[in-house]
Amino acid sequence: MSYIKNRWYCAAWGHEVVRDPFTRTLLNEKVVLYRTEQGHPVALSNVCPHRFAPMHQGRLRGDDIECPYHGLRFSPDGACALNPHGSMIPPGLRLKSYPVIDRYAMVWIWMGEADEADPALIPEFPAHDDGGYKTVGGMIPVKGSYQLVADNLLDLSHTQFLHPILVVPDDPETRVEHDILQDGDTITTIYNQRNTRPFGFTGLIWPDAPERLDGLSGVRWDAPANMLLKLHFVSRDPGDDRELRIWGAELVTPETETSCHYFWSASRNFRLDDDVFGQQLGDAIANVFRFEDGAMIAEVQANMGDETDLIAMRPVILPTDQAAIRARRIVGKLLRAEQNRKGEPKQVMAQL
Ligand code: FES
Ligand SMILES: [Fe+2]
Repeated sequence: MSYIKNRWYCAAWGHEVVRDPFTRTLLNEKVVLYRTEQGHPVALSNVCPHRFAPMHQGRLRGDDIECPYHGLRFSPDGACALNPHGSMIPPGLRLKSYPVIDRYAMVWIWMGEADEADPALIPEFPAHDDGGYKTVGGMIPVKGSYQLVADNLLDLSHTQFLHPILVVPDDPETRVEHDILQDGDTITTIYNQRNTRPFGFTGLIWPDAPERLDGLSGVRWDAPANMLLKLHFVSRDPGDDRELRIWGAELVTPETETSCHYFWSASRNFRLDDDVFGQQLGDAIANVFRFEDGAMIAEVQANMGDETDLIAMRPVILPTDQAAIRARRIVGKLLRAEQNRKGEPKQVMAQL
């Protein structure tokens, strides 16, 4: 499987990246992450070019990282800074370094051409930095292709079947709306449940919910699989203008072809000072993602074997699959564009 390289991926939550180096496999590449003394994030290959030792087991010397095996030292830009076995540093001796940036409480990594790493390409997740919201979140390892997680979020009609806590009551008054919007390569899918009665999840977040409410949900998707989930619960009582919002960053980064890191968050605009409630909300959401979505995706991947191209397996397509199909088409288009560019002669060659 090929990955889109020239896009930002979430590598970690910002608080995970500290002075102590740690490793994570991203797009099949072993990466070591740490912070400089100034607090800037650093991402380097975790494989020493000498005897392929794991760099994250080494020590930091100032901002440089020292290989735990024979002590070669590398700077945050990947250049070899010290060879303890002689003054000579062989030319080309370096670790691959990756552009990284702190934004929205996450550390973002660019695995492709470094000179194209434009921070403006990071999609917006403003609730993480907004004092009007309180955020909880985490990361769930999923044993399935990252695209299966995107499929899952782009078709929220599954909530009525897979998630007991999200099942809305059977009610002739309830209306379901489903829509897809596309702006360039950004897809937004809407799934609204209008005029419903309180249900399991509203019981958790809104004990004094009105008798009738609208459950509005939308997912904005940007390639490769960075999504913003918005859940709004709105009272239908005239004179009751209450609206509870939960916004989630749903950032899916491939680990290997058939596994991924699912970074999730829940930013709420209510009960901001209630940390016990925040914990309950986070646990409830994490349990849904881990034991229902994540478990189902792992089963689906197991049934697909090593295959990651769902379309090649000719699945039945339902109307609710449209957003996921469009997202897969955009990923395919971006991948082809990157591969075609790789075949182009470099500008410097053309000038010779
Ligand atoms: S393996 Fe890293 S210095 Fe030898
Ligand atoms: Fe789900």
